Amino acid sequence: MRIAISTGGGDAPGLNAVIRAAVLSARTRGWDVLGIKRGFSGLLGEDEIVPLTTDSVRGIAGQGGTIIKTTNRGSPFAYPIQQPDGTWKNVDRSDELVENARNLGIEAIISIGGDGSLKIAQQLQEKGVRVVSVPKTIDNDVAGTITTFGFDTAVNTAMEAIDKLHTTAESHDRVMVLEVMGREAGFIALHAGVAGTADVILIPEIEWEIDKVCEKIMARDASGKRFSIVVVAEGSKPKGGHESIIGESLPGQDRRLGGIAERLGYDIQRLTGKETRSMVLGHLQRGGSPTGYDRLLATRFGAAAVQAVADKKWGHMVALQSPHLVTIPIEEVLRETKRVDPKHDVVQTARMIGISFGD
Ligand code: F6P
Repeated sequence: MRIAISTGGGDAPGLNAVIRAAVLSARTRGWDVLGIKRGFSGLLGEDEIVPLTTDSVRGIAGQGGTIIKTTNRGSPFAYPIQQPDGTWKNVDRSDELVENARNLGIEAIISIGGDGSLKIAQQLQEKGVRVVSVPKTIDNDVAGTITTFGFDTAVNTAMEAIDKLHTTAESHDRVMVLEVMGREAGFIALHAGVAGTADVILIPEIEWEIDKVCEKIMARDASGKRFSIVVVAEGSKPKGGHESIIGESLPGQDRRLGGIAERLGYDIQRLTGKETRSMVLGHLQRGGSPTGYDRLLATRFGAAAVQAVADKKWGHMVALQSPHLVTIPIEEVLRETKRVDPKHDVVQTARMIGISFGD
């Protein structure tokens, strides 16, 4: 048996642990394993295909990133090709991919990725390529699985940032606004915000108002707690829009307002009069060594994906439905949208301990 592994979309801590586990369990069965470089690009002649052996995965379980690289662009069904006039056009190169995979003797592909990669996996499956998927996202927004590897590491990174912001916020009696990742989902903001004891958590799933955020900050001030920590998910927007305008300059500075954290900080300072600072945690959440939880989950997913290939579970994704690992049809996963449930006990817990959601 010859299988190939690809990693697509934004990287997440734990990808290498999945690759390692998949390679080791495939080799134990006597299978050959190839790594497709940069998503599926490696199968389109633009990059290499590399053999993955027990030697090539030695010592990588704790390393961030992916040894076979990844890309956000490069769906074989809409592959960007530069035209002679310099513009880019998306071209369907899926037939070429199928033929190249056949010529290389690839009998099945383990595709590790989020929503975008799952869609590609489903389309390839419909073209007769045998695919098994492994869910990957730091945002925790893939349906069908309680969680994915990478999320716990991202939450820990954000939580440590919130811890550090507390001391400087308190020393200066300031409001600190921290923007975390998550696309349209608020899982990282919610989990890191509760674990890091933020005062306000703003997520796309709960409609919030700037006035309510300011009320919370001023109530804390009145009670003698003259600093506040606000965690905001990148996909979140206030009801009725911001007071501030993109492109406006910060008071006393030339720098122009950009993303949600800056605009929110600007609005808070303008409405409360409190000195406010904002920061975007950004790609720090995607980097570094996976936590023990993520390494273990990634290792379980990697081995389970090889088992799914052995069981011919084509078009399925491995998933955690505690306490078990299961496989579910990718089609089903793609039908659902996973977001924070405002009634979830983590949200209720946060409310019970006085955290505001600005609603
Ligand atoms: O989906 C993972 C994620 O890190 C999101 O949280 C974020 O919005 C996005 O990817 C950033 O992607 P990139 O910078 O790689 O384009």
